[in-house]
Amino acid sequence: MKVLAVSGSLRAGSHNTELLRAAAEAAPAGVEVELWEGIGGLPLYDQDLEASAPPEPVRRLREDWAAADAIVFATPEYNGSVPGGLKNAVDWGSRPRLAAPLTNKLVAVVGASPGQFGALWAQADLRKILGVAGARVVGDELPVTRAHEKFDAEGRLLDEELRGRLRLLLETLAAEASPALAA
Ligand SMILES: Cc1cc2nc3c(=O)[nH]c(=O)nc-3n(C[C@H](O)[C@H](O)[C@H](O)COP(=O)(O)O)c2cc1C
Repeated sequence: MKVLAVSGSLRAGSHNTELLRAAAEAAPAGVEVELWEGIGGLPLYDQDLEASAPPEPVRRLREDWAAADAIVFATPEYNGSVPGGLKNAVDWGSRPRLAAPLTNKLVAVVGASPGQFGALWAQADLRKILGVAGARVVGDELPVTRAHEKFDAEGRLLDEELRGRLRLLLETLAAEASPALAA
């Protein structure tokens, strides 16, 4: 099973991207997690660009997101919600309405912040907009609080309990993707 990992942060030292790298390392057998880094290259959503020849970054989003069995999003919280770049990507992923890559797509949401709440508001908003976009949101929020203390200088996860929760989330996605196999 192929899971794309989409970070809502473009920052080189992003804790959310570190979280997704840790998820890739914690993945159970049969689950391959691949970081998708196309958010920063997307144009601002414009309905006029939806025509037959979309810009290359949009074409790539459509192709890659459609081909994935599931997508895990890691969102920072900016001013109490989802960063604009991530919202923009979700908007692109929700169109064209009848052939959108997010339609019925299995998705999960995690989030990290240096504060006490672990991007909880952003995760709640992201779950909402993914649901409105037609995705199937599975699992619960996974708030990573005090994220600056959870990784070492090389970005490796230091928290074993969190590693277990990431693995469990991926197992939940895998079970949703292949209920017969999980039974
Ligand atoms: C524009 C901006 C707004 C922010 N707003 C919030 C916020 O509302 N709540 C919060 O917990 N952290 C907020 N932060 C701090 C981010 O959580 C912090 O920068 C975090 O490390 C960003 O995620 P990243 O490490 O993946 O880049 C904000 C940061 C920026 C740059």
